[in-house]
Amino acid sequence: MQKKVIFAVSFFFIFSLGFAQSSATPSLQKQGTATQLIVNNRPFLILGGELGNSSASSVEDIEQIFPKLQRMGLNTVLVPAYWDLIEPVEGTFDFTLIDKTIHQARKNNLKVVFLWFGAWKNSMSCYAPLWFKKDYEKYPRAYTKAGKPLEIASSFSENVLQADNRAFSQLMKHIASIDKTERTVIMIQIENEIGMLENARDYSREANALFKADVSSVLIDCLVNNKETLHPWMLEKWGNHGFRTTGNWQEIFGDDIYTDEIFMAWSYSQYVEKLAKSARAIHNIPLFVNAAMNSRGRKPGEYPSAGPLAHLIDVWRCGAPNIDFLSPDLYDKGFTGWVAQYKLHNNPLFIPEARLGQGSGAQAFYVFGEHDAIGYCPFSIESGSDNPETPLVQAYAKLKELMPLLAKYQGKDMSKGLLFDQENKECILSFDDLTITTRHYFSLPWDPRATDGSVWPETGGLILRLDKDEYIIAGSGIVVEFKKNGEQKILEVKELGEDGFANAGGNTQKQTAWSGSTRAGIGTVDEIKINEDGSFSRIRRLSGDQTHQGRHVRIGVDEFSILHVKLYEYR
Ligand code: DGJ
Repeated sequence: MQKKVIFAVSFFFIFSLGFAQSSATPSLQKQGTATQLIVNNRPFLILGGELGNSSASSVEDIEQIFPKLQRMGLNTVLVPAYWDLIEPVEGTFDFTLIDKTIHQARKNNLKVVFLWFGAWKNSMSCYAPLWFKKDYEKYPRAYTKAGKPLEIASSFSENVLQADNRAFSQLMKHIASIDKTERTVIMIQIENEIGMLENARDYSREANALFKADVSSVLIDCLVNNKETLHPWMLEKWGNHGFRTTGNWQEIFGDDIYTDEIFMAWSYSQYVEKLAKSARAIHNIPLFVNAAMNSRGRKPGEYPSAGPLAHLIDVWRCGAPNIDFLSPDLYDKGFTGWVAQYKLHNNPLFIPEARLGQGSGAQAFYVFGEHDAIGYCPFSIESGSDNPETPLVQAYAKLKELMPLLAKYQGKDMSKGLLFDQENKECILSFDDLTITTRHYFSLPWDPRATDGSVWPETGGLILRLDKDEYIIAGSGIVVEFKKNGEQKILEVKELGEDGFANAGGNTQKQTAWSGSTRAGIGTVDEIKINEDGSFSRIRRLSGDQTHQGRHVRIGVDEFSILHVKLYEYR
């Protein structure tokens, strides 16, 4: 049996000490540039998954699904709270599904984030109860420019707001009444992917009247007060019209569909603010909204326009100050670009939905390493595999070990995320006086899948600097080399085989070589397990072939692991 060595780790820590006096209510707390979610008095990273839309609509399904989620290694599940099933008869509320969810979550050691599928779900109002839908005179719809009513409740209607807010408030009261002690419910998403479709704004009579009226002084004052830190898109849009502070929407922002979108975002955000205020007064836990991306070159009205999108963050922040953050739902290509748009000085990154796939585990590592994310959640998580060999299951097991360590270093610029595929093979990083070259594992030609035409899997991980000469490297399918900054000198040298010898007659390739300065050497590489108290247990020492005889640190594509690396210097 493998002998495990317990290291006396110099930075052993009890990270809960700093929070011992704070309340057990889930909350958000700043640490450096990061915003941390605090659960049970400790920083908590959501290793999550969101259920498919209809998967929490029967007690049997909830019973069946939750044990699997625990086997998959989730610590949190995002679950719809369906307005139509909660209030099937106007004024009569049924919380059977909510109770079942909370009960099953507790049984399976999961936290819950409820998603309020209220007036809007992916723009539409399909989760509004039938009594609401049928009474379209009392609960009016949004209209297109051509006058067509949509199955989208109007955000300008006080009756819509009252009905939605009343049901949502009942939900919050119910959660408060059953979850004051255990705190199973850690956050609430208000509505789901709000946004106008077909046109960039609602053309109902009420909307048209407000569109012609002056822009609210609340919005203008807020923009003026935050002018130094506005999103570049908003700064330009407003600046193009001379930063006017009085006038109607078109006078201040110009006459185009993006102005229509700003107008609409102001309406949606103010509406959401009323629900957020209700929630805060009843049961004060973190609140967020999610957005469908404005991807693939689409214009407002083609995507759910006016949703909580990055370019509209200032409107949403001004209109809904009680919302803690705006979150992206990520299904399109360009994952790294999208997440970067949502990690802002005034917005921590939380991903409530991402496409579930082979690369999900790598993406999770990336967002925690690169952006100090609050959490990561593939969508339709119950359709994934609970086989322990599955990338996401492996990734979550390792991230769970890493959680206290990551939490300790969040917001201090000590970690980087890695995410590779066939197009993005390499990333060069820098810490102290080191140049750290990181690559996709298949940049090593030794695995036949690297060159036999196989599609390279999405791989990734994170690098955490513990000290000048001490790193954690974790994830899957990565190769890392360390050089002192002064070492860079390019030579043509023979390509090396896996054994480190030049291949007979092999190709030449470019490599760095000594330039006369001090060099960085790999001292030791240990595959480790991180214990709950923060100490490390060595699983095995990696050297020889596993480090290319000391040339690099690597983790294969079929595994996730955590490596503890010590460097040294020589000349
Ligand atoms: C994003 C939505 O927020 C989800 O509820 C779901 O509809 C997915 N899109 C589609 O798969």
